[in-house]
Amino acid sequence: MLGMELCNLFPDAIKLKHSDVDIRERESVMESIEINRPEIVINAAAYTAVDDCEDNQEIAYEVNGISPGYIAEGCSCVGAKLVHYSSDYVFDGSKKEYIESDIPGPINVYGKSKLMGERNIIDRMDDYRIIRTSWLFGLHGKNFVDTMLRLSVQMDTVRVVNDQFGKPTYTSDLARKTEEIIDLAPGIFHITNDGVCSWYEFASAIIDNASPCSSEEFIRKAKRPKYSVLVNTRTGQMRHWRDALAEYLNNRKKMM
Ligand SMILES: NC(=O)c1ccc[n+]([C@@H]2O[C@H](COP(=O)([O-])OP(=O)(O)OC[C@H]3O[C@@H](n4cnc5c(N)ncnc54)[C@H](OP(=O)(O)O)[C@@H]3O)[C@@H](O)[C@H]2O)c1
Repeated sequence: MLGMELCNLFPDAIKLKHSDVDIRERESVMESIEINRPEIVINAAAYTAVDDCEDNQEIAYEVNGISPGYIAEGCSCVGAKLVHYSSDYVFDGSKKEYIESDIPGPINVYGKSKLMGERNIIDRMDDYRIIRTSWLFGLHGKNFVDTMLRLSVQMDTVRVVNDQFGKPTYTSDLARKTEEIIDLAPGIFHITNDGVCSWYEFASAIIDNASPCSSEEFIRKAKRPKYSVLVNTRTGQMRHWRDALAEYLNNRKKMM
């Protein structure tokens, strides 16, 4: 989802899909970076199915945890910058808001694997930008907005949890912000659209037949943080998620 937005934004970049390079293969990653000798590597590859990560822990740790270290090694060898994406799920949600320097404490395998990825990068290179983001929606991928629109016509009411809070983020806005962050000093960034909501509030902005429920009524494999609100203290704010959602729904309609 995000990778396609980045490809649109950087038309001259060398674009590598999963079928071109499996980031779990250290040799392929190193070779690809050494042959292409990029100035900047942007890694949007990840194993993002949060519930599946609980069952497929080995894949989650390999793709999200160990592989970013291979990419960092490759970048370090050729002197390239690395931009990598991480998640609000590196936090446990016991605090309502998290700034970049807050101590992570993930409560599910996905979050633990993404935190391992961050640490493997930081251990291997200096010129990194790790962008933690949350609740992505956008063209080119499975996302909550599309799921709500699909379920809304299949069901009388769509139950959505009203006790988990976060910040929805439009991939198109995140891609543009990435361009700005490349030129900033290295480090960790918290980048989301503005505005906090529950999943139920987010759903209600998309469909008319959402109905609130609690996390206890809607059991998932992976535990989710109650509050995973990322606060950006390093760059300018992005627009409100409601404005971004309106644009996405409009663009989505044009694509159909
Ligand atoms: N989605 C969210 O709500 C969310 C929230 C916070 C942070 N993030 C982070 O934001 C970034 C982008 O997320 P996204 O939702 O755009 O992801 P996505 O749509 O799930 O895309 C992930 C891509 O990674 C590829 N991939 C998976 N395993 C790979 C491997 N071993 N080698 C090479 N490529 C591989 C996938 O290819 P295949 O499909 O062919 O496997 C897919 O193209 C990720 O780092 C994610 O952790 C996402």
